[in-house]
Amino acid sequence: MTDLHPIPETPLEAQAEHARLVEEIRAHDALYYQEDAPSVSDADYDALRKRLIAIEARFPDLVTAESPTQKVSGGVSEKFAKARHGVPMLSLDNAFDEEDVADFVGRVRRFLNLKDEAIAFTAEPKIDGLSANLRYEKGKLVLGATRGDGETGEDVTANIRTISEIPQTLKGKNVPDLIEIRGEIYMSHADFRALNERQEKEGKPVYANPRNSAGGSLRQLDSAITRARNLHFFAYAWGEAPDLPAETQLGVVEAFQQWGFRTNPLMRRVHTVEEMAAYHREIGEIRASLGYDIDGVVYKVDRIDLQRRLGFVSRSPRWAIAHKFAAEQAFTVLNDIEIQVGRTGKLTPVAKLEPVTVGGVVVSNATLHNEDFIRGVDSHGNTVRDGNDIRVGDTVVVQRAGDVIPQIVRVVIEKRAAQSKPYEFPATCPACGSHAVREEGESDRRCTGGLICPAQAVERLRHFVSRNAMDIEGLGEKQIRAFYEWGLVKEPSDIFRIEREEEGQLARLKNREGWGELSAKNLFAAIEEARTRPVHRFLFALGIRHIGDINAKRLMRHYKTVDALRDAALAARMPEEGNRADKGNEAWQEMVDVSGIGSIVAGAVVEFFREPRNETALDALLKEVRPAPMEEAARNTPVAGKTVVFTGTLERMTRDEAKAGAERLGAKVSGSVSKKTDIVVAGPGAGSKLKQATELGVKVMTEDEWLALIG
Ligand code: IVH
Repeated sequence: MTDLHPIPETPLEAQAEHARLVEEIRAHDALYYQEDAPSVSDADYDALRKRLIAIEARFPDLVTAESPTQKVSGGVSEKFAKARHGVPMLSLDNAFDEEDVADFVGRVRRFLNLKDEAIAFTAEPKIDGLSANLRYEKGKLVLGATRGDGETGEDVTANIRTISEIPQTLKGKNVPDLIEIRGEIYMSHADFRALNERQEKEGKPVYANPRNSAGGSLRQLDSAITRARNLHFFAYAWGEAPDLPAETQLGVVEAFQQWGFRTNPLMRRVHTVEEMAAYHREIGEIRASLGYDIDGVVYKVDRIDLQRRLGFVSRSPRWAIAHKFAAEQAFTVLNDIEIQVGRTGKLTPVAKLEPVTVGGVVVSNATLHNEDFIRGVDSHGNTVRDGNDIRVGDTVVVQRAGDVIPQIVRVVIEKRAAQSKPYEFPATCPACGSHAVREEGESDRRCTGGLICPAQAVERLRHFVSRNAMDIEGLGEKQIRAFYEWGLVKEPSDIFRIEREEEGQLARLKNREGWGELSAKNLFAAIEEARTRPVHRFLFALGIRHIGDINAKRLMRHYKTVDALRDAALAARMPEEGNRADKGNEAWQEMVDVSGIGSIVAGAVVEFFREPRNETALDALLKEVRPAPMEEAARNTPVAGKTVVFTGTLERMTRDEAKAGAERLGAKVSGSVSKKTDIVVAGPGAGSKLKQATELGVKVMTEDEWLALIG
């Protein structure tokens, strides 16, 4: 997509484009590495990086040490202790076609000043998992770490130990005193599918592809979960290794195998660009039957002395290259566009395609992202598919790269029927009929019928009863799901009627799986207690978009009662879209002026109360509950009015407890450190926030010191 745009001509344009790309790449990196949830295909991501490299090649002034081109992508979460790699974990340069491979071989030959002599390379699949560094001292595994940013990874030793293909002790002869083995941790296709089915059944998020699920599985705080995920490992490289067991890449990998590692059986030696291309084709043909994801093949100079001479350029070795597979494409017809409503109310259009085989897999759905994407515009306002919109009946090109969700990359305009019409995106939710709105600056349309929409019901109910909302003990996600499926609870007010509506309810509940007399009684007591939760928690519990606990407090501090807030929302008239002179009416102005509430948040509140379906549900709910006035924050405490940040692992309390405790004493809890921060409470494993605090001279204390301070 991005390739369609020429490289900017002027330094000013280049600078702007460069900044935009850096930001986009960083955002993708964060999603990919910290949340194991990528939002773009690898091919699109590679295209962004390629474009950044091209711009920097033309305007070298734009290269800074901070540019993603100068750093290995990655990043380290604060969940695990850090592990600094003795030898950095680098990445590989990419070749996308035979010409790039020929350039690579040419570069190697020139660098080594080879005349006609032959040079051997190893060729092996590029496993699409996550790399790990395993440190063995005296043959014993002492540390297992993720790659992280290449310099520092996460110490995941406990989890690594659960992977049966990683030996705890190296076996055989010639085991060195010290060696770091590197390789790829991955999940098989079969395990990936089974895991996602389980996740789905349990109402947990599903993983986008086997690589992310391997990442998510390895970065669990509970090693038992990692063990159950059945991860695999191929050894293919090394880090610190004072005495290597052989003089060639292949020889070393063979030694790995003798020490007890799995190595890839498809690895072999090649000598020419032709042999490399043949290997690439051959692996491409068997790719779909391997049972695990690969995204290309890797060639490495076989002789290790030559590798040493070749060395590195910025983030990758000069002696190796990844030859990627092209994304696979096919033509088909778009039969329909279906709108799916997500757990959070987002309307996602899905292309229903005439089934077609793409790279060995039958594809019948493709994501269309949102309304704008169908019109031919991406979320940055850039055109996609040459600006062509997508219409039902169109002939389209679908693309699949690895296990990424198939995409429509092109519309064959010449085949479009003369009478075809642009697609009209629905303005109401297909699941519940409530109106669906788009916020300023957003590409997504969302259902506003949060309280009653069946697509969102379980998620909303779960939120409604959760700890920081109505806090009904004994009603977790599992119970909510079961009650929903039994037809006992469809919307929040039903919860308060479980006991009363029907006398037999207790008996019914008792006979259900897992419910005894005592647990049912306890549940009813917890429900009773929730009827008088403070009003800001009630507002938060409604699950209105943008109303987290902080905004709920801001609004309720001002409006005091739900009725007053509702009256204000119904009286408010929002400014007309695009009319800058229009400031809305007085009720709107009042809401926007509440400290910390802007037009986006206020807009969400107005939309919520305005939806008649919510109104009915809310009336029913208000018949059941009597929210208590908001507790005013304490004023005479050592931390009243102070802004506090918690970071690292807390050992004496959960994050939620820490936050609630601080707020009860009148402190403000923030998620990020700035000049305005008064105290940073840092537990073990604290990282960037602690560093920032020290730099800004903010007071830092341990968890125990904090507890002593607040008594
Ligand atoms: S060699 C100095 N071999 O690809 C580079 N890497 O883009 C050493 N990968 O971080 C890496 N399969 O996670 C090598 N057979 C293979 C690989 C492989 C997958 C990954 C690895 C690395 C990334 C580089």
